[in-house]
Amino acid sequence: MTKVTNLVQEGAVHGDIYLKEEIFQLEMEKIFETTWVYVAHESEIANPGDYKTTFIGRQPVIVTREADTEKVNVFFNRCRHRAATVCQQEKGNANYFRCALHGWTYSNNGDLTGMPFQDGYGEDFDRCTMGLKKVARIGIHNGFIFASLSKAGKSLDEHLGHAKKYLDYVVGTGPEGIALNAGVHKYHFDGNWKQQVENTIDPYHLSVTHRSFFNILANKTGKKINFARMHKSEKIRDLGNGHSLYELDADIGIGELPFNLIIFPNLGILGSQVRVTFPVSVDKTNVQLYPIMLKGASKEENAARLRKHEGFYGPAGFGTVDDLEVAFDRVVEGLKAKSGDEDGEWLEISRGLSREVVDEDGIITATSSDEISSRAFYKEWKQLMS
Ligand SMILES: [Fe+2]
Repeated sequence: MTKVTNLVQEGAVHGDIYLKEEIFQLEMEKIFETTWVYVAHESEIANPGDYKTTFIGRQPVIVTREADTEKVNVFFNRCRHRAATVCQQEKGNANYFRCALHGWTYSNNGDLTGMPFQDGYGEDFDRCTMGLKKVARIGIHNGFIFASLSKAGKSLDEHLGHAKKYLDYVVGTGPEGIALNAGVHKYHFDGNWKQQVENTIDPYHLSVTHRSFFNILANKTGKKINFARMHKSEKIRDLGNGHSLYELDADIGIGELPFNLIIFPNLGILGSQVRVTFPVSVDKTNVQLYPIMLKGASKEENAARLRKHEGFYGPAGFGTVDDLEVAFDRVVEGLKAKSGDEDGEWLEISRGLSREVVDEDGIITATSSDEISSRAFYKEWKQLMS
């Protein structure tokens, strides 16, 4: 195999990055086990004793709010006895997690509180050292909880960098903040996780892949979207550290936020949703969409947000099904075609390279049909993978 970092050039990526098992393994190790990964929003574990299970890369974790101190913890979901997961529920409220294999029981602060027939362990056995293992670092920015499996490396603050103010904007849209309490849409596809992340900011595909949606919207509202004009005026920005931002000029009927945001490696905030992409294997990906509800807003306002979100992203909506078929399945199929000559195996991400502008903060900007977002993502990818 070619050297991994040679698979990403300034304006192109090699098809192997979506197909090769060894690249996927390396991504888990060099990206998901080193950088900051989003695990939950505080509103999902609002009350003492609340918990949520999720994944950092492929590693199962439990996010808890301690019953006594209300401190937020992120534990590996792995019994210290024989490694079974100690919690299978997606969310809930519990004082204890009891492993179903032999009954070892942990408090929601991680302490091992008991096990059946304890006298079988000798005097040297120290229960205090056998609590659930914690992830190396936790960071919270304005309610967004991130974890890192690496003790060393950038602080969360440094990692988020220019993206912080957009997270703050999202929280500020609700009179009393936001809550991810409307449930979750889930889907999966037989393709690579990076396809979904790249698709989070890809305005170039809107008028083509999603034409039927915009035609129906135009019939319904009488408002036709001028994509050519939109692509001239709207901006995409490389925010650094792999993050990127697409600024919408107008409401195009798919959500409430005026931007799509990618936080490297797998968090998206767009429309009216928080989107989390979970790598399962090189060709399997799970996706979860959490509609963003506004705390302090009226029931009607939040219901209207949900209906709009569902119209494009929901199970019976237009957008997600288009992307599953066109942006994911057809690309996976096409990637199998190999002409045998070197240039037949690359994917183009060079659009707009010649018209990028760099501002005083180092933020690279171009117009909205340009592939700045993919270039921003792969710049960070390449750095971490080397
Ligand atoms: Fe799409």
